[in-house]
Amino acid sequence: MKTLLSDSANPKSGDREMAGEVIRIRGGRPLTGRVEVKGAKNLATKAMVAALLGETASILRDVPDISDVQVVKSLLEVHGVVVEAGDEPGSLTFDPSGAVAAHFEEIDAHAGASRIPILFCGPLLHLLGEALIPDLGGCRIGDRPINFHMDALRAFGAIVDKSYEGIRITAPNGLHGANIELPYPSVGATEQVLLTAVKAEGVTELRNAAIEPEIMDLIAVLQKMGAIISYEPNRVILIEGVDSLRGYDHRSIFDRNEAASWACAALATDGDIFVGGARQQEMLTFLNVFRKAGGWFDVREDGIQFRRGGVLKPVVVETDVHPGFMTDWQQPLIVALTQAEGESIVHETVYENRLGFTTALVQMGADIVVHPHGLDTEGRRVPRRALEQAAVINGPTPLHGADVVVPDLRGGYSYLIAALAAEGESVVRNVGIIRRGYEKLFTKLDALGADFDVVG
Ligand code: EPU
Repeated sequence: MKTLLSDSANPKSGDREMAGEVIRIRGGRPLTGRVEVKGAKNLATKAMVAALLGETASILRDVPDISDVQVVKSLLEVHGVVVEAGDEPGSLTFDPSGAVAAHFEEIDAHAGASRIPILFCGPLLHLLGEALIPDLGGCRIGDRPINFHMDALRAFGAIVDKSYEGIRITAPNGLHGANIELPYPSVGATEQVLLTAVKAEGVTELRNAAIEPEIMDLIAVLQKMGAIISYEPNRVILIEGVDSLRGYDHRSIFDRNEAASWACAALATDGDIFVGGARQQEMLTFLNVFRKAGGWFDVREDGIQFRRGGVLKPVVVETDVHPGFMTDWQQPLIVALTQAEGESIVHETVYENRLGFTTALVQMGADIVVHPHGLDTEGRRVPRRALEQAAVINGPTPLHGADVVVPDLRGGYSYLIAALAAEGESVVRNVGIIRRGYEKLFTKLDALGADFDVVG
């Protein structure tokens, strides 16, 4: 028996959605139905920071209702930005005209909650001449250093001091354009450079930039604001600094990570899911792997339908920066691969510790061996970095229910679909972590026919 009704039938489900930390799942049923994906977590939060750069108010549409958005909203508010509901559901307006420096205590209250605060540096330096960054949070999937960010800010002329309060960054002589080559095409560091360079004096050339679709969408936001940004081949971005920027009106790109997650849920549970709002173009690499693994999809005007096309087949996948196979896609895919006939290999090359989540899948009956220092397999290209791990998955193995604790966002989502695919009952704890990136999670599971209760 399901405890939750859909939002329209039960207005209180939203409250429970936010409160539920522990759920009990009775698995073994295919997930079938339709879910909608809205704006991307990894664009919306950055576009919200960009609003600080405008001299007039901005409006962002399709903002996902997730806790990462709440953290950024709250940080904007402590800096004097007025954040209000916009003119349509899911939109927010940001009025930065009263922006002020925040007190240490107010900033510190956000320590450990998200990684986005680091992107406030450039906008705050332009606005106030200084920025204070709390200890950063985010998923524990590796060291996640911020050296690229700090080196880039120094190249713009900023001074970085570590104090007992956190990191204090000042720009007594303003910020000037810079020549920057990232050691690795980091998403966050590329965004840092964009958000700083748009108002720095002169031209910035960024080489080895990340070119994820969410970054291209952030460039579109900044261009609407009056920025001059051009993109050249081979990961080069040129930014001509301007004196002032205005607000924007922008609809966020869809969340392709969430779309891929539901696609893998259909594969793992032998279900049939239509993901409204999903688009083919930004998911080409995922769709290729999905098909090779035995998935079937149908691209339509308003979304993509996903299901199995027959028996699942093993694949060899290597995560990479865009246009490669995203690191955020491997976790739900691995659950599906436990049901493929043969040996699959997933090489993780973006983060140094992003396969730890597989331990719980093994507890549920999966045959997965993690090689912490990678694995040489035939036909591999030289990875972009030495740092890598590999998971070898042998299937098919029946999964059975277990009591599992969510370790991080994507790993946690993979536990949900493993529990839904498994025979018997599972308890999944720490579900709040999944809500950092998946909006209306319970409502969507409910719409797909999942059998679960919120128990704590
Ligand atoms: N790195 C450094 N130094 C730096 C910055 C990054 O060594 O200063 C390393 C990282 O440790 C990592 C690699 O570079 O090994 C890539 O990190 P990147 O900076 O690209 O990641 P990010 O900006 O921190 C974003 C997403 C992640 C997503 C990655 C890769 C956000 C808020 N987060 O992280 O999303 O996995 O890009 O695409 O945009 C998620 O959604 O679950 C998630 C973790």
